[in-house]
Amino acid sequence: MNVLDAFSLKGRVAIVTGGARGLGRQHALALAEAGADVAICDLLEAEGGQTRRELESLGVKALFGKVNVTAADEIDGFIRDVEANLGPVRILVNNAARPSEGCALADLDDRLWREILETNLASVFYVAKRAAARMAAAGAGGSIINIASINAHVISNIAPRYNAAYCAAKAAVENLSKSMAAQWAPRNIRVNTLAPGYIHTQQTAATAAIPEALKRNIENTPMKRYGRIDELKGAIVFLASDASSFMTGGTLVMDGGYTVW
Ligand SMILES: NC(=O)c1ccc[n+]([C@@H]2O[C@H](COP(=O)([O-])OP(=O)(O)OC[C@H]3O[C@@H](n4cnc5c(N)ncnc54)[C@H](O)[C@@H]3O)[C@@H](O)[C@H]2O)c1
Repeated sequence: MNVLDAFSLKGRVAIVTGGARGLGRQHALALAEAGADVAICDLLEAEGGQTRRELESLGVKALFGKVNVTAADEIDGFIRDVEANLGPVRILVNNAARPSEGCALADLDDRLWREILETNLASVFYVAKRAAARMAAAGAGGSIINIASINAHVISNIAPRYNAAYCAAKAAVENLSKSMAAQWAPRNIRVNTLAPGYIHTQQTAATAAIPEALKRNIENTPMKRYGRIDELKGAIVFLASDASSFMTGGTLVMDGGYTVW
């Protein structure tokens, strides 16, 4: 197969959680540009509808569902809708997450700890388990991409906006993904993680608004800049497509070098 053909997603159906805005919107656009029909889900209805229309303007089928990724019944209903309207799911990008706590451990409320772990870690299990069951039933295999972070590997030097709960969740996403990869390989379902470095979005806005913390993040990055919002698109298509057909249980780190030192 010609190498560029291996990146094609024509005829495949993808789900992107948290796809209404930010990096999730970029992941959805990337998959659509590579030919996939794309379903996004999010809590944000207006942004979700807007992104669905952008996807359709690329000439693919698209769907938006208002779904909380921590609610099992909403996930079940969404996957049923996707299958009924677009067809069997071949690609899942578990991208939805909430921002970090932004405070020291001593001030971290127990309830907020649970919310971050529930949204940023448990939802990855809830959605992937259900999507993998449908991929297995359809028998064509699939690719699951769980969005981790450089914070799966290192904690950031962003005092006073500490992020221990966020880091713990992202580290667990990478480890959980290895179990998924091992258990689902016999069904031809690959599971990999993408670990981005700092990119300006709503999630990173509070830290970027503190000049000292922003300066430290840039200085701690060998490339001396934040990533552009569209700089993960190639990685998403690579991981989703047959171009990465022998890769499972792995992590792609795209961080301008942040984790080299
Ligand atoms: N921006 C960065 O620098 C960076 C770096 C590393 C990893 N990430 C990861 O990339 C992913 C996207 O982050 P982003 O920067 O685009 O942030 P973002 O806040 O712009 O996007 C997150 C999206 O997830 C949705 N979401 C949150 N909770 C949800 C829930 N319970 N149910 C459904 N949808 C929900 C939000 O509404 C939002 O649209 C996240 O997993 C994040 O942790 C971001």
